[in-house]
Amino acid sequence: MNKYIIANLKMFQTTDMVSNYLDILSKIKDEKLILCPSNIYIPYYLEKGYTVGIQNVSSKDIGAYTGEISPLQASGIGITYVIIGHSERRLLGETDAIIQQKIVASLKHDLNVILCIGETSEEKHIKKDILSKQIQSALKGIPKEKISKLFFAYEPRWAIGTGIIPETKEIETTIHYIQTICFEFINSPVKIIYGGSVDENNISDLMQIKEIDGFLIGSASVDANRLLKIIEVTSK
Ligand code: PGA
Repeated sequence: MNKYIIANLKMFQTTDMVSNYLDILSKIKDEKLILCPSNIYIPYYLEKGYTVGIQNVSSKDIGAYTGEISPLQASGIGITYVIIGHSERRLLGETDAIIQQKIVASLKHDLNVILCIGETSEEKHIKKDILSKQIQSALKGIPKEKISKLFFAYEPRWAIGTGIIPETKEIETTIHYIQTICFEFINSPVKIIYGGSVDENNISDLMQIKEIDGFLIGSASVDANRLLKIIEVTSK
């Protein structure tokens, strides 16, 4: 695969769907394919040898935090990626400050961090300010040697689960802007992923954007056959 494909399966699967999903995907094993199922199914994916990401983590290592999973625990069972700051978590009250603590904690345990950033539809006119604020906050306290483990996933919040995506040219400009901002702060390039309504119909167009390192895919990744079609296009 030439690009990272990160499947955010959210809370879409049930037990009987998991084995069928893994059967259909079984011909593809690639370290750039990262599957992020619900926590309770993670062991099944690890057993099959997939690179696995967790959809959220705590900023703490250990302690009295009911319902939480720590980066220490996640890396301990072989999880290597974590999605942080997804808009569906931000909606539950996750602030940039909480997100920054989660990033620091995850990098400490050597997890690769997929940090979601992006503007709401009301914020479209101040998109650059929003992105710049989210990036600055995320980069606070990140050791330089860990930067290669940080992926910026640009996900316009209005494009998530809606079937509406920005014009290819607009994504290209935004990605360029993110790269410029990051360079100002850390003086080195970062990996940038696009997410928000990516599917088997628009992936060829999105592949025209050279600066994209990969895609974060929600609903279209829940159907293994659709995911395979996307992988096929990104592997050409
Ligand atoms: P979507 O979700 O592909 O269904 O828009 C993307 C995401 O939530 O990361």
